[in-house]
Parts: sequence; structure tokens; C-alpha cells
Amino acid sequence: MLRYFFIGLGLFLVGLFAVAGFRGQKSGKPPIEIFPDMDHQPKVKAQVPSSFFSDNRGNRLPVAGTVPIGYEAPRSKDNPFPDEGKYNGVRFTAGTDYLNTGRFGDQWGTGIPLPVTAELMQRGKERYQIFCAVCHGASGGGNGVAGQYGLVAIASYHQDRLREMADGEIYNTIVHGKNTMLGYGDRIPLNDRWAIVAYIRALQLAQTATINDVPAGERAKLEALPQP
Ligand code: HEC
Repeated sequence: MLRYFFIGLGLFLVGLFAVAGFRGQKSGKPPIEIFPDMDHQPKVKAQVPSSFFSDNRGNRLPVAGTVPIGYEAPRSKDNPFPDEGKYNGVRFTAGTDYLNTGRFGDQWGTGIPLPVTAELMQRGKERYQIFCAVCHGASGGGNGVAGQYGLVAIASYHQDRLREMADGEIYNTIVHGKNTMLGYGDRIPLNDRWAIVAYIRALQLAQTATINDVPAGERAKLEALPQP
């Protein structure tokens, strides 16, 4: 009985090899895979077209307004510090002047080196709320939500030391961080850093300002509001 089984198995294997192993002609079809594992993944390989995107290009351009992590402004031998270190329309540090470093030589400078417009303040407010408010709090009191999760000693901006601090030093803290605060220089482009500094100044002023600091035109509007 067993003998017939082995003869049968032998014939079956010969037949199987004849049919499956030696097809006799070339085939472009993929081989039958019993355990495909993860051999086939819908991924984009470098320099290969992709039907996923309507323009059939696998390689994508960076999203407008974004910068690859670790990007440094292009430099050349002739101009090692091009002052417009722009990438994708966004400007990062690319020089040694006040605009780029917050310093004049080895001193912190003060003043916002960009036109302080309503748009700049609005931008600063938006960026501040995205990047800083989690720790420093919406009004800069150092009471952001991160404090509830164990981050200690977050600086409040409402102390004389920070009220008197040069704008350039605050700018530098945004770029490089300070003690337990990490730097944001690789995430916040140059113009936005200054916009945030300007907004921090507004937050500080808002704590101590009186009605007399409000421009006459705006004063009437404020006074018309219901008083507490
Ligand atoms: C993850 C929490 C966190 C975030 C986000 C954060 N900070 Fe801070 N920041 C801190 C802590 C903590 C300190 C206190 C550091 C120390 O011990 O001197 C600090 C200190 C500061 C100081 C005072 C530095 C000094 O010289 O004493 C400034 C100014 C400041 N932060 C600005 C910012 C700005 C602007 C942003 C947003 C771009 C920001 N921080 C985002 C945690 C944070």
C-alpha cells in the first residue's frame, strides 16, 4: 500500500515540476507567492513615477511655506552669509547682523528690526499661541498647560528682569532656548521670531498699561465698553 503511495507521490511531483517549474516560455507575471510577507508595499521609491499623484511624479516638492528639518541657508565661498537665507519663501538665520542674531557685536541689541505693523503683531500673536502659550500661558504668566504636566519653573514674562531684557536676548532665547527651554530656531523662521518678540512686548505692556497709553482714537472705543 505504502509503495503505491510513494509511486503516486513521485508521479505527482514529476507532474507538478513539469507544469509549474518548467513553463517553457518566459513570463512577465510575478511568481506565485505563498508567503508574501511585506514584499509588496504601496510606497514611493526614489526617482520612480507614482500613479498616486495626478502629475504621476513620485518625488514631491515641499509643501509651500515649509522647510526640511536641519535646513541651513545655502552658502557659497564668495558669500558665506547671504543675508537672505530663504528657502521656499521662508527666511532663517543666515548672517551675523542684528536681524539674524539679536546682537550688535557682543552686546544684545534692542528694537524690532522689521516694520511693526498690525499684521506683524497679529502674526506674532498667532505664532506665540502655537509655539509658546503651551508653556508660557496665553498672557505670558508662565502658567501654560504644560505646567500641569510636570514642567517646572516656566518663566513668567511679567517680572522686571524680563521687562528690562533686550529684545535681542529674547530673540536669542527663541532661537537657542535657555536652560530647560529648548530652542525653536529650526521651526520658527526669522520674521516670525521678531513678530513673537513684538507680541511678548505687547503682553508685558498689557499688564501695566493704563487708559492713557491707549491712542486717543481707540480710547473712546474702549471707554464705551461696559466697565467691570
Ligand atoms: C516646553 C515649554 C516651553 C515652551 C514651548 C517655550 N518655553 Fe520659554 N521657557 C520655558 C522654561 C521652562 C523657561 C525657564 C528657563 C530657565 O530656567 O531659565 C523659559 C524661559 C523663557 C524666557 C526667559 C529666558 C531668560 O533669559 O530667563 C523667554 C524670553 C522665553 N522662555 C520665551 C519663549 C518663547 C518666545 C517661546 C515660543 C517661541 C517659548 N519661550 C516657548 C519653557 C518653554
